[in-house]
Amino acid sequence: MKLLFIGDVVGSLGREMVATYLPKLKKKYRPTCTIINGENAAAGKGITEKIYKGFLDAGAQAVTLGNHTWDNREIFEFIEEAPHMVRPANYPEGTPGSGYTFIKINTLEVAVINLMGRTFLPPNDCPFRKAEEIIEKVRKRTPIIFVDFHAEATSEKQAMGWFLDGQVSAVVGTHTHVQTSDERILPNGTAYLTDVGMTGPYDGILGMERNAVLKKFLTNLPVRFEVASGRSQINGTLITIDDTTGLAKAIERIVINDEKPLFE
Ligand SMILES: [Fe+2]
Ligand SMILES: [Fe+2]
Repeated sequence: MKLLFIGDVVGSLGREMVATYLPKLKKKYRPTCTIINGENAAAGKGITEKIYKGFLDAGAQAVTLGNHTWDNREIFEFIEEAPHMVRPANYPEGTPGSGYTFIKINTLEVAVINLMGRTFLPPNDCPFRKAEEIIEKVRKRTPIIFVDFHAEATSEKQAMGWFLDGQVSAVVGTHTHVQTSDERILPNGTAYLTDVGMTGPYDGILGMERNAVLKKFLTNLPVRFEVASGRSQINGTLITIDDTTGLAKAIERIVINDEKPLFE
């Protein structure tokens, strides 16, 4: 089976990229399932029910989140009725929503797990121990397990990749909004990529309007960040997985922007 994952969708430009390119990507790569990180989908911060449903209508089967999970207050009204959306699993016990879910495609089942790093991010439960705990449960149902590890530090992401090597189909990173070029299959069969990158503004700073970010760096005064406008991009990854073992056979990066158009 082939799993397509789209990195952090930022604001309306990101959503427009999904609407435009998801059908084209599906035509080109024929993924068995599609997962989208939507933590920045609502004006750069959080997600709304309409956007979540829009992703499903556009052809995604699951939506992952990250440190911006709670930034749009609407989430509290629909998270419990959004079975295809996962927030970081290592939030404290009792947090609304779920940290993992299952996607059913014919006879196959894919477990989707979202975890968040603790380096340069708010303190949460241990993502490594939480991963172990969830994997033990989900492996009883399926060997096909996808992990979106939303983290800042490359070291923490690499550590998770090695920690879960051979136990899950893929560990891919999100959050930095900049795609890394270190995709590989680890020795025991887990596909790994430190960061998938982002989908949305191409000429912003991590998707945000440049002047505000520059003002922040130059003056340290409080500024209001807005999603950038102009050209846009889409970043993702395509992972080929053995249906029976759940181990990865291939991983490739997807980058589409003005300089790198999609060849259909
Ligand atoms: Fe993000
Ligand atoms: Fe993030």
